[in-house]
Amino acid sequence: MNTPVTILVGTTTGNAQYCAEEAQFRLGEAGIDATVLPMDGLDATALASPGVYLVVISTYGQGDVPDNARPLYESLIRDKPALDHVHYGLVSLGDSSHAQTFCFAGRRFDAQLSKLGASRIGDVLNHDASSGIMPEEATAAWLGPWIGQLSTASAA
Ligand SMILES: Cc1cc2nc3c(=O)[nH]c(=O)nc-3n(C[C@H](O)[C@H](O)[C@H](O)COP(=O)(O)O)c2cc1C
Repeated sequence: MNTPVTILVGTTTGNAQYCAEEAQFRLGEAGIDATVLPMDGLDATALASPGVYLVVISTYGQGDVPDNARPLYESLIRDKPALDHVHYGLVSLGDSSHAQTFCFAGRRFDAQLSKLGASRIGDVLNHDASSGIMPEEATAAWLGPWIGQLSTASAA
């Protein structure tokens, strides 16, 4: 059985959205149903259903989450829902020219989700906009092994 994946997108200028759409396509090729859900207007209830979530998020300001991710992030901190039923993967976009805060938004989500009891599947993809690699390409390459780990975690 292939568990469906909800792809949550935090973005300012759209790179994370492209990555999410690439992930949706690749997951579909692997026979996994995936839905792309922008974080706009979401709060912690978006994670109320047991399942697998793929968080795709960029970093803005000085290590901040994008504006469209702020309500969800703040709700996770304020409402502190138990998330033991949540498995998640994380694609974190940033730029190493921001050396002190590289990919901090992803780190913030990772820390908060794990604090609330959610289980991460696989390593975090930290994409560096200065690397010369397109974020969608990096996401596609990262997804292969992640899908393998997803199958193992779903079967457990
Ligand atoms: C004004 C501004 C501030 C940024 N601040 C950070 C930062 O603090 N840390 C980081 O790793 N990347 C930072 N970035 C880089 C973005 O996260 C990166 O370009 C990312 O690919 C953008 O993805 P998006 O189009 O989905 O928003 C910043 C970019 C801009 C334009």
